[in-house]
Amino acid sequence: MSSVVQYPAGSVQIFDDSETACEAAAGWIANRIRDAIRVRGRAVAGLATGRTPIRVYERLVARHRAGKLSFRDVITYNLDEYYPIRPLDPNSYRAYMDRHLFAHVDIPANRAHLLDGTVPEGFTDEHCAAFDRWIAADGGLDFQLLGLGRNGHIGFNEPCELGVEAMLALPTRLIPLHPTTTADAAADFGGHADRVPRHALTMGVAPILAARSILILAFGRNKAEAVAASLQGPITSAMPGSLLQTVSPKVTWFLDAESASTL
Ligand code: GLP
Repeated sequence: MSSVVQYPAGSVQIFDDSETACEAAAGWIANRIRDAIRVRGRAVAGLATGRTPIRVYERLVARHRAGKLSFRDVITYNLDEYYPIRPLDPNSYRAYMDRHLFAHVDIPANRAHLLDGTVPEGFTDEHCAAFDRWIAADGGLDFQLLGLGRNGHIGFNEPCELGVEAMLALPTRLIPLHPTTTADAAADFGGHADRVPRHALTMGVAPILAARSILILAFGRNKAEAVAASLQGPITSAMPGSLLQTVSPKVTWFLDAESASTL
């Protein structure tokens, strides 16, 4: 592992490979959970899906099975969910979280929250506003785990032409998916981009950046451009990862050598 280097968008650690980075990420999360429970009696965790964090969850489950980490006092909020989608659809993020984490640890069912892909049309605004209120009522996120889309998205906050102030204020909401995101998700839907839901519900930029700390993971050569632009480029809504520059003291990046190759 390299030493910690400061960039405009946060402190960066580059690991030899993603395996080592995932082990370090699991350690980072376990420490955040223990610290929050010690101080407030519970931990409020913002979680992510996608390929990137799968091995982080594997390692958290291993720590739980070894009796080193309990989720009894953990409350979770996931970043996003496809819309519409049934929770039992294997491609739903609810199913992903059950498969990779919730089914294997002792988290109470009513403390593991995801946006609901079955909310009736016309009520998504109400549902998303309620989700933001639940997070606030739980005292805010102690930490948010983030991945980075190939196009720089965080959660499903896609690149757009909004002014930076407007982008930073975005709440949790329904969004149309960007074509790059749909293309990247097609593999999960049997290679058929037309089977990927056209919309998603996503935690907004505002609640993400309000987390007390943020750990962002990016692995592989295909993330290198988005990583470099987010860390070193201008702050712009066209590269949502660059918005992390506005809260850099609380942001930690764990990269592998490939995703860091153009820094
Ligand atoms: C997905 C998710 C994001 C995730 C990103 C990267 O579509 N909605 O929250 O961080 O895109 O995904 P992956 O880790 O599979 O590259």
